[in-house]
Amino acid sequence: MQDAQPADAGTRERTAVVAGLGAWVPHGVVTNDELARVLDTSDEWIRSRTGIGRRHVVSPGESTGDLAVEAGRRALASAAANGGDRTADAVVLATSTPDRPCPATAPEVASRLGLGGVAAFDISAVCSGFVYALGVSGALITSGAAERVLVVGADTFSTILDPGDRTTRAVFGDGAGAVLLRAGQPTERGALRGLTLGSDGTRSDLIQVPGGGSRLRSAGEPARDADAYFTMAGRPVFGQAVRRMADSVRASAAELGWAVSDVDRVVLHQANARITAAVADRLDLPVDRFPSNIGQVGNTVAASIPLALADAAQEGVLRPGHRVVLCGFGGGLTWGALGLVWPQVKPV
Ligand code: ACO
Repeated sequence: MQDAQPADAGTRERTAVVAGLGAWVPHGVVTNDELARVLDTSDEWIRSRTGIGRRHVVSPGESTGDLAVEAGRRALASAAANGGDRTADAVVLATSTPDRPCPATAPEVASRLGLGGVAAFDISAVCSGFVYALGVSGALITSGAAERVLVVGADTFSTILDPGDRTTRAVFGDGAGAVLLRAGQPTERGALRGLTLGSDGTRSDLIQVPGGGSRLRSAGEPARDADAYFTMAGRPVFGQAVRRMADSVRASAAELGWAVSDVDRVVLHQANARITAAVADRLDLPVDRFPSNIGQVGNTVAASIPLALADAAQEGVLRPGHRVVLCGFGGGLTWGALGLVWPQVKPV
């Protein structure tokens, strides 16, 4: 037989492994009742349509970078508490609300974490951003370009919402979460595998901030306040989110060699509790396999998956040895998923 793989070939492959997990939300809280005092909405409507009870929001002057630094610091501390090093040689930040349109926020986050000099850049894939960032960061490790990558998802959507839009203000909250990846082997707990990513740019207008980019500026159109606000066509996005996330979980599980019914936990982007229930239904899985913190934090965009991971691990809902699939969907449209066997990592 020609070119037979040695029996241990898989174990010598370089893979990205989760070594630390951190999460952070700003102190400010807005409850549904507080929203109902200034908008035509109610706690009952928001809870029944989304599952959200409250959300965290930044204080005046507080930025996405500030939240990213806190979450990053915690992920590094978590890695150290689990016996690893408190260092990284690259910082990748998933965000759609950078501190400024230019430059990227990641280099400043790296410097503030004492990692100045390392490779640092932002990734823009809205609510799929964290899965995209894990995929790209994993590739930095498998290629040998990096040994340890700090992957952060952070967003402050409260800064781009139309104050008069009851739909988006009910849904979105601010936050940050981070994972420290290190080089390891595919057979280890925590090894990221089964990556699947996709996009559909023909539907880019369903989730957008129309202004601030080259399209309107080159047309010479005068800047309008409304163009600076985030807009979302909720209904069509809902259907896409269910279909794309269910398909992504299936594709990732197949890539991992797992039957969908063998997946212990599916950590979805926390878009809406009804979307989570619909994905569970489509996958024929009990909804209690889908950890959820949307009631406390709302939809935190790129921070959503690491925040949900941290809460689930903290509460013991997610335990070492669980087969986990992480899955995101968001503007672009974009979607993606990957899997891992949950390691002995405690969030900070
Ligand atoms: N309070 C009271 N009424 C409201 C509110 C509110 N907060 N928000 C909307 N309504 C009203 C609407 O005005 C509308 O009234 P009308 O029938 O008189 O016009 C009615 O409720 C129904 O509106 P819909 O938008 O159809 O409401 P829906 O049940 O679809 O819920 C929601 C809206 C929560 C946004 C839902 O569509 C959703 O979750 N969509 C998917 C979001 C998602 O997955 N996004 C992708 C990731 S996010 C990202 O990438 C940034």
